[in-house]
Amino acid sequence: MSFDKAVQRTYPFFFGFVFVFGVITLSISGWLVSRYENLNNFESLAERDRVRYFLFVSAWTVLLTPIVMSLFTFARRSKASSVLVHLVFLFITWVIWIAGASALTQTTGGGMNCSTNTIFNYCGQLNALIAFGYINWILLTFIFAMCILLAVRSWKRGDGLLGSLIEIPIEEK
Ligand SMILES: *[C@@H]1O[C@H](CO)[C@@H](O)[C@H](O)[C@H]1NC(C)=O
Repeated sequence: MSFDKAVQRTYPFFFGFVFVFGVITLSISGWLVSRYENLNNFESLAERDRVRYFLFVSAWTVLLTPIVMSLFTFARRSKASSVLVHLVFLFITWVIWIAGASALTQTTGGGMNCSTNTIFNYCGQLNALIAFGYINWILLTFIFAMCILLAVRSWKRGDGLLGSLIEIPIEEK
């Protein structure tokens, strides 16, 4: 199997996992935000705002990942699915995930023991957000690194940054 084909086949899995983790954190942070709004039972404004930020990061990911994926799948030759678009999307997404995960880690101290924690409500949910945040960030680090490699290839074959991630035509399976 050529490298191009390997990229074509594994792409949906990597982006699919980013999407699924985004759905999980979207539901957890959405639930927490609604709790905080109704019950005002957050420990600090920082905690509330950082959970809200998580909701934004999750929504960004859940909305945009399927669009980028579909463009790659159905319009690979289009500039809308070019190396440049992938680089920009992945870079922004990579930055906002690590920002969200590290900010919430800073607020809670990270890795809270929920059987001894007496400070934060929803200890398990906060720990889950942080864990999924880092998992998605690690996944995105790998995908972004792959994308840089593909950008270099596109550049070298003379397609520049507006070229496709891979060379093989759409029809070819
Ligand atoms: C969390 O605290 C409980 C009660 O002190 C303790 O038994 C347990 O080992 C702690 N768990 C971790 C992962 O530190």
